[in-house]
Amino acid sequence: MKPPKGLFVAPASFGILATLLSVALARMPEACPGFCICDMWLKLRRAACVNKNLYSVQTGLPAIVQALDLSNNSVSSLGNFELANIGLTRLKYLNLSGNSINEIDLNAFTALDDLAVLDLSRNHLYYVLEDTFANSKSLKILRLDENNFNSDIPRLRSSYIK
Ligand SMILES: *[C@@H]1O[C@H](CO)[C@@H](O)[C@H](O)[C@H]1NC(C)=O
Ligand SMILES: *[C@@H]1O[C@H](CO)[C@@H](O)[C@H](O)[C@H]1NC(C)=O
Repeated sequence: MKPPKGLFVAPASFGILATLLSVALARMPEACPGFCICDMWLKLRRAACVNKNLYSVQTGLPAIVQALDLSNNSVSSLGNFELANIGLTRLKYLNLSGNSINEIDLNAFTALDDLAVLDLSRNHLYYVLEDTFANSKSLKILRLDENNFNSDIPRLRSSYIK
């Protein structure tokens, strides 16, 4: 015989639910998703989420992350403000090598003012808009090798890279 719904089951599951909720809340500001490894690297808060078939940069990582390794996943595009909208504005290092990126919107990296190293090698890019990095104040290293540019090396404009 099935117990009447809610009556016997509820008190126990409320307890479990409350416990889970408090654990979740306690961990919230610095939580590292289970598919990532979070540590300190060169004095930066790093999250490495590699070889996981992730198809999006939206991984639920906390905004304190400064170095993000998403290499060898399945990300296919980077939308306008996508990284900024998920709060990752403190990134100094972003590795997207070995994904399937074929499209980068003009403002994909806007508001990532500290971004110094960006690895977009081994993707499926066949063009990059000229002004994509025009406002990337801190960008020092940009890797674009092993994409599909054929002989059309992208022309990029920047007021910061000399
Ligand atoms: C990503 O894939 C490349 C090529 O297969 C490999 O050389 C590299 O070690 C991989 N990176 C990681 C962090 O597993
Ligand atoms: C990005 O990750 C790839 C593969 O894991 C690695 O070979 C490469 O050195 C990394 N790029 C940078 C700039 O650290």
